[in-house]
Amino acid sequence: MSVLLRELSERILVLTIHRPEKLNALNPEVVESLRDALHAAKGDDAVGAVILTGSGSKAFVAGADIAGFKGVTAAGARELARRGQAVLDLLEGLGKPSIAAINGFALGGGLELAMACTLRIASRTARVGQPEVNLGLIPGYGGTQRLPRLVGKGRALELILTGDPIPAEEAYRIGLVNRVVEPEELMPAARALAARIVSRAPLAVKYAIDAVNHGPELPLGEALRVEADLFGLCAATADMQEGVTAFLEKRPATFRGE
Ligand code: COA
Repeated sequence: MSVLLRELSERILVLTIHRPEKLNALNPEVVESLRDALHAAKGDDAVGAVILTGSGSKAFVAGADIAGFKGVTAAGARELARRGQAVLDLLEGLGKPSIAAINGFALGGGLELAMACTLRIASRTARVGQPEVNLGLIPGYGGTQRLPRLVGKGRALELILTGDPIPAEEAYRIGLVNRVVEPEELMPAARALAARIVSRAPLAVKYAIDAVNHGPELPLGEALRVEADLFGLCAATADMQEGVTAFLEKRPATFRGE
């Protein structure tokens, strides 16, 4: 059976990492399957949003597969990190929203995967963390960079240096996840959120993600120019004309992603 299950309905693609016996740990097969699925989703107009989750009730993803670290060389480990980072970059830059539905442990590479998603919803039973220091490692799939950007440097350093996981409610309190729901509500809540975003103008959604993701890397003046450029690009879309006209005509807009 495949290590990555795919299900597309109503323009929402659900990708389920399926290695429940290993708590969905990210081995090379999972990473490659994710890369292929994300490449396909990026170019597929039938996909409006992606939900990522893990198989079973115990884990979203319990990290990179630790078995792959045994005897690895410095060059090999660097390559492993770069390959994983490239897949997470692809996810972050998908041009469509992605939601991590965190159904259990999201540790190490699991939390890094969730942080590369546009939004995160956690089950009340989930626990998240960056435990790499327990293995003599540091996060290598973007954790040292995306975690401080999401929760601030102080909280990120505490999580990374102690390696201690935190419960979903604490992750919510520090802004690491967008909301916490009961386990049985996780997938309905993720689908409802995805559907809400999919009903909006797709290019506006894409440009908004671009602006929010890239702005903070730039000096404020440049970032504001990027925002204005993307605002201008929105005005060149048929959907912007439709959205404005529909509002003025007091009717719902029909967006076509053009
Ligand atoms: N890589 C490879 N295998 C993993 C794994 C990982 N990151 N996380 C869990 N597994 C495997 C376990 O080895 C075990 O396999 P086995 O049954 O063949 O021995 C199976 O998944 C179940 O895990 P287990 O540890 O028995 O479950 P638990 O309920 O006792 O503990 C965790 C759950 C998540 C606390 C524990 O599995 C853990 O600490 N995992 C590693 C987390 C981590 O350090 N991630 C960062 C990696 S960089």
